[in-house]
Order: sequence, then C-alpha cells, then structure tokens
Amino acid sequence: MMVCEYKPGLEGIAAAQSSISNVDGQKGILEYRGIRIEELAEKSTFLETAYLLIWGQLPTSEELKEFEHEVRHHRRIKYRIRDMMKCFPESGHPMDALQASAAALGLFYSRRDLHNPIYIRDAVVRLLATIPTMVAAFQLMRKGNDPVRPRDDLDYSANFLYMLSEKEPDPLAARIFDVCLILHAEHTMNASTFSARVTASTLTDPYAVVASAVGTLGGPLHGGANEEVIQMLEEIGSIANVRPYLEDCLERKAKIMGFGHRVYKVKDPRATILQDLAQQLFAKFGSDKYYDIAVEMERVVEEKLGHKGIYPNVDFYSGLVYAKLGIPTDLFTPIFAIARVTGWLAHWKEQLAENRIFRPTQVYNGLHEIAYTAIEER
Ligand code: ACO
Repeated sequence: MMVCEYKPGLEGIAAAQSSISNVDGQKGILEYRGIRIEELAEKSTFLETAYLLIWGQLPTSEELKEFEHEVRHHRRIKYRIRDMMKCFPESGHPMDALQASAAALGLFYSRRDLHNPIYIRDAVVRLLATIPTMVAAFQLMRKGNDPVRPRDDLDYSANFLYMLSEKEPDPLAARIFDVCLILHAEHTMNASTFSARVTASTLTDPYAVVASAVGTLGGPLHGGANEEVIQMLEEIGSIANVRPYLEDCLERKAKIMGFGHRVYKVKDPRATILQDLAQQLFAKFGSDKYYDIAVEMERVVEEKLGHKGIYPNVDFYSGLVYAKLGIPTDLFTPIFAIARVTGWLAHWKEQLAENRIFRPTQVYNGLHEIAYTAIEER
C-alpha cells in the first residue's frame, strides 16, 4: 500500500509550476512576472498590469492601446443578465451576486474553444470588462435604482467609481483605486487561485473558472477579511480600547482580522503601499479616526505577535482606503475579485498550456468491513 503524507491546508506542497508571480515571505517581496510590486504600483496602470500578468510581458504602447480599447467597448452587460440580477434578493451578499452573474456569462458564451487564442482573448476581455459593471449594477439595483451605463470616455477605474456613485470621481481617488487593483491582481497559489486552477483543469469554460474562484475568495479567512477589519475598527472605537480589545482576542484565541499570512512572515509589501495610499487620501480628503486606531493596532499586534511572524496583510489597510473612497463595506471583497480576476485568468491560461486534471488523493481514516444495519435495528 502506498503511504502518502497528509499536510493540512496543503502547506508547503507545490500545486503547480508557475511563472506568473513570486512571493518571498521572509523578505516581504512580491513580483509580478519578475517586476517588483512597488514599481508597478508607482508606474503602471491596472490594465497594463493585467496584460503583463496574462500575456507574460509588458505591452507595447500599441498593444496596450488596443487592449484598453477592447476592454472599454465590452463593458456593457446583456440586458438579460441585468434582468436576472434584478431578481436577486437585495439583502444578498454582493459576492454571491457576483458569483452567480459570472457563472451566468457562461450561459451566453458556452462555446469552449480553449485552443483558439481569439476565444481566450475574448474571454479575458469580457471578464475584465464586465465584472466591474456587474458589481456596480448590483449595488445600484439593491438600492432600488437602475444601473448606470458605463462611460466610454472614462478609464477603467474612474468608470467603475462613476458606475457606483453616479458621479465622476476625483482623479486622485481614481488613481488610488487603480493602484489598489494592481496590488490585488495576483498572489501566487492562494485558495481562490487554486480553486480556479482546479476548475480550469477540467477544461470547463473560463466563466465557471472565475465563478468558482469568486466563491472561494468570499470567505473570511481569504478575501472576506477586509470587511471584518472595518467592523473590528468600529467595534474598537478608540485608541484607548486597542490594547484591551486585542488582549481579549488573544485570550479567547480569536484571530485578529487583517493580520497573519501563510507565506509572509514580515509586513505584507502591499499593506505598506496601501498604508501610504490611505495617508494620501486622508491628506486630501480629511483624516479618519479609524486610521489612527489601525496604526495603534499594528503597533500592539507587533509587540504581542511579532515573534510568530504575524504582521498586517493586504486586507488590513485596503478597507480603510475603500471606506475613505466612499465604498460600502460589503463591496470590498467584490472589488478584490475585480482585481483578482486577472490572476485567475493568468493561471487559467497557464493551466491550459500544460494541463493535467487535478486529482489528489486522501488519507482514509474511516472504518472498514462494517455490516449494514437494517433500519428497524438502528
Ligand atoms: N491573529 C492572531 N493570531 C494569529 C493570526 C491572527 N490574525 N494569524 C495567525 N495567528 C497565530 C495562530 O494562532 C498560530 O499560533 P500558534 O502557533 O500559537 O497556534 C500561528 O499564528 C500560526 O497561525 P495559523 O492559523 O496556523 O496560520 P495559517 O497560515 O494557517 O493562517 C491566515 C493564515 C488564515 C491568513 C491567518 O493568519 C488568519 O486567519 N488571519 C486572519 C484572517 C485574515 O486576515 N485573512 C486574510 C489573509 S490575506 C488574503 O487572503 C488576501
């Protein structure tokens, strides 16, 4: 009998070979296709970064122009998808609405021409273009409003903020939002990416790949943590309450949301960039007491848990930035999905290039040779 080792959470087990992104968790380094995240956050745009991740190299200016043009002109969603979304309960979570809407795209584009580069390009463009529209449409419809049409004269991030609020955003706000999308676009073999690759390995359509990844991203131990960070900051309420609150959490062995990471044992480089973005926003639009509480939390958590390698992760400061941009808390994770669809699509393409269906094994720890008991004897 073959003996195999069981690693809970598959910790340390390579599930794929990938050239898309790299994390050095000891040094706090994140690279997309070899380029440091700090450099991309400073110099790139979300769509350029998406191109880099999905096609493997930075686009020329012609390639970028064409890609931006395609995405810009595929932003509208089919009226039948909009009508379907109107039937969703307004009390439902926007991540569930997004998962259902992404899956519904597969009904309209059910052809699976996975060896055809035109099919791949169309699917990439359609998903990048329509996911923000679906998130914004659900937000307006659950408030009883009609969704607004995307505006072709606005770039990717400005258009999304416009569709959410029906107001043209401040350029700094739009740029900061675009950087947030860059920071969340890809992050090696995390739970949702693994889910995307498993689904991709069955050779299903890319809409099912993205829908399964959206479902996985929604949990509070993954993308859902940024919502809980804001709730926690509200609950703490004051700088004076930070220490007693954290001491209580540690005593109850409760996890402190926005801290800790399977790979990073130092501060997540994305958290450092997000903290800087939060400061830029507060400098322009006024300060926020939750930011001061967050900084104090970081200080106390480092004191108490730094020896275990527990530092802020990407979710700790992202919520503060989104809240300052006026985005409702339960849209934080769908916004994460808007960005991460890039990474999922890059992994979809990479999986298809050298596919073998995922079929791991298990360590059976149940019973054997048990006789069936008749129902009247149980
Ligand atoms: N608060 C308090 N203690 C923590 C935290 C935390 N946030 N994270 C880890 N620890 C402690 C654990 O209690 C454990 O201590 P022990 O060795 O004394 O038992 C040790 O650090 C190792 O923790 P694990 O849970 O084994 O680490 P794992 O790699 O399985 O979990 C995870 C990583 C899920 C991110 C965890 O740190 C966590 O739950 N954090 C809070 C939720 C969160 O912020 N998630 C977002 C992650 S980023 C992302 O997905 C985009």
